[in-house]
Amino acid sequence: MTGPSRELIFVAASGLAREALSAIRAQDAFTAVGFLDDSASLAGATVDGLPVLGPTSAIVKFPAAQIVVCAGRGVVREQIVDRLTALGVSQERYATLIDPTVNIPPGCEVGAGAIVLGGVRLTTAVSIGRHAVVMPNVTLTHDCVLEDFATACAGVTLGGNVLIQRGAYLGMNASVRQGTVVGAAATLGMGSALLGDLPAGQTWAGVPARPLDLPGIETKKLHLERGR
Ligand SMILES: CC(C)(COP(=O)(O)OP(=O)(O)OC[C@H]1O[C@@H](n2cnc3c(N)ncnc32)[C@H](O)[C@@H]1OP(=O)(O)O)[C@@H](O)C(=O)NCCC(=O)NCCS
Repeated sequence: MTGPSRELIFVAASGLAREALSAIRAQDAFTAVGFLDDSASLAGATVDGLPVLGPTSAIVKFPAAQIVVCAGRGVVREQIVDRLTALGVSQERYATLIDPTVNIPPGCEVGAGAIVLGGVRLTTAVSIGRHAVVMPNVTLTHDCVLEDFATACAGVTLGGNVLIQRGAYLGMNASVRQGTVVGAAATLGMGSALLGDLPAGQTWAGVPARPLDLPGIETKKLHLERGR
């Protein structure tokens, strides 16, 4: 049995918001009302058939609507959630959007405000935190944890028991070895293979993944140049 459809507002008229809209249009759990966005160029615009209703502060005009924050970067989502909290938005207002193609097995959990797009696979005992974003075709294997505001871009694969800490960002098609920790607000570049823990706040990339500004990257490039 399904409950009544709930009104839903997307904060940030981003590509992610349009993807989330596409995912929920196939369901009857939500009625999409529109976007809120602070960009002056979007004022009064229509995006994918939905109106931009005003800036973020206009949320006060929609006291009953559910909300999902759609900035692509978790650190930005967290800033927006903080602003919404200051405007009186309670945690219960945040919707959890899961594409209808995605199965959430028993024992897995998805937090309020999270977005899970098409083709994502969760195997067992996977936890997706509040306002986390999991983009298409991500594979989250046993005992993985994505903390609040974490982002896994399309095609990311996590081995078992990986911990992605708060606000960390995994670029497209990155792979993470089992048992590894990606620190809070760290970034892993697209296509990387992460073999060991990535410290909080750092950006690593490559195969194997290394800090972008470390001599290791330069050394690798020199080898490549000599090999030409
Ligand atoms: C890692 C990343 C964040 C770095 O971005 P940036 O700070 O703008 O870095 P730049 O593009 O200036 O590149 C800096 C250096 O790192 C290298 N680099 C960047 N990304 C890399 C990657 N994924 N793998 C290997 N090397 C990479 C560049 O070649 C460059 O090297 P150089 O200085 O020798 O020329 C970015 O490249 C990335 O991978 N972002 C994720 C993109 C993504 O998944 N988007 C999904 C949107 S839904």
